[in-house]
Amino acid sequence: MAGLCFDMYGTLCDTSSVRARLGEVLDVPDRLVAAVDETWRRKQLQYSYQSAQMDDYEPFWTVTSHALDYALAAYDLDPDAEARDRIRDAYDHLEPFPGAVEALTRLSEAGHDVVVLSNGDPAMLERLAANAGLAPHLDDVLSADAVRTFKPDPAVYEHAAEALDRPLDDCRLISSNAWDVAGAGNAGMATTWVNRSRDPPETIGARPDREVSTLPAVADDLS
Ligand code: LAC
Repeated sequence: MAGLCFDMYGTLCDTSSVRARLGEVLDVPDRLVAAVDETWRRKQLQYSYQSAQMDDYEPFWTVTSHALDYALAAYDLDPDAEARDRIRDAYDHLEPFPGAVEALTRLSEAGHDVVVLSNGDPAMLERLAANAGLAPHLDDVLSADAVRTFKPDPAVYEHAAEALDRPLDDCRLISSNAWDVAGAGNAGMATTWVNRSRDPPETIGARPDREVSTLPAVADDLS
């Protein structure tokens, strides 16, 4: 049995569920909503890498907020502060992907330690885990905030192994984010890539040990 570390944003919960709120608040055509959403997520990740590289850590909620401001500006949208708050609030109400609860439950029953390991800061993770109905099925919620940097910095994966009191190679990162899998493998963790969109693997960093296309398939593989 292993320590199973699930990524949150994009793996257990669907970041594109913010589109409904963007559409409601911005009242613009769907294709513009999709473009803002894509730019928001891309910038969120880019800003997390940049802030880690620049040694200028800011909690992921702040990074996410700066990324939203960029995405809105990129499309000449300028909603007021209250509208921006309503958009950001969607991050606390992301939809879990199908089979998320089932996979976590089956893996716990099989005897694994089942935790979240995310770049999200503790407060935002706590809100999302509760709202998405995941909290009762998790042994712990681990945040990169504890080491004030972001995945794929090896320090984050090492922090998880310490928190789980297991060697790194007895921990497995389960993520849909290919860059996260490449980073965890480089740091010495086992990895499962939940590759929903049949993307090619990253061409830098470690290759995934295992690859599946849904969350229940993770449970089929590891139970
Ligand atoms: C996470 C995001 C960044 O760490 O995927 O949950």
